Amino acid sequence: MYDFRPAPGTPKPELYRQLHDAAEALTAGENDGVANMANVAALLWEFLDEVNWTGFYRTVGGELLLGPFMGRPACIRIPFGTGVCGAAAESRATQLVPDVHAFPGHIACDGDTKSELVVPVIRDGDVVALIDLDSPAPARFDAEDAAGIERLAAMLANRI
Ligand code: SME
Repeated sequence: MYDFRPAPGTPKPELYRQLHDAAEALTAGENDGVANMANVAALLWEFLDEVNWTGFYRTVGGELLLGPFMGRPACIRIPFGTGVCGAAAESRATQLVPDVHAFPGHIACDGDTKSELVVPVIRDGDVVALIDLDSPAPARFDAEDAAGIERLAAMLANRI
């Protein structure tokens, strides 16, 4: 049995350290990317409060394709440059969006979503996947969340 849940009230730097270590341990020794993304999507869901979607999009055939996730069914294919995910893929940069309705072209997969954090997973200079986190709370994510997820993305780059 895996029980990686952090103690309630754990400060963000410690929370992300524990999340990173749990993801590192869960994906070590497994080279199937889908299995690893599935477990990390579940870990993100367990570790983070106030989220309604945690998961991955992969770059396949020059567009973003839905990967393993927790939450409601989502858009399957997203072109680079479209919405928050497409902006992260095209710019290769983290998108920290306090109000998704103010983001041009935002794709509403779940009408409850109010804020979003999208971090590219970059391997050999290419965006191979994205980590996407959605929240029903406005401005749920901050620079500490972005830094924690960016470190996770860097660790996963050769495991997904
Ligand atoms: N809101 C995203 C689409 C993906 S879903 O949130 C899972 C976007 O605008 O890119």
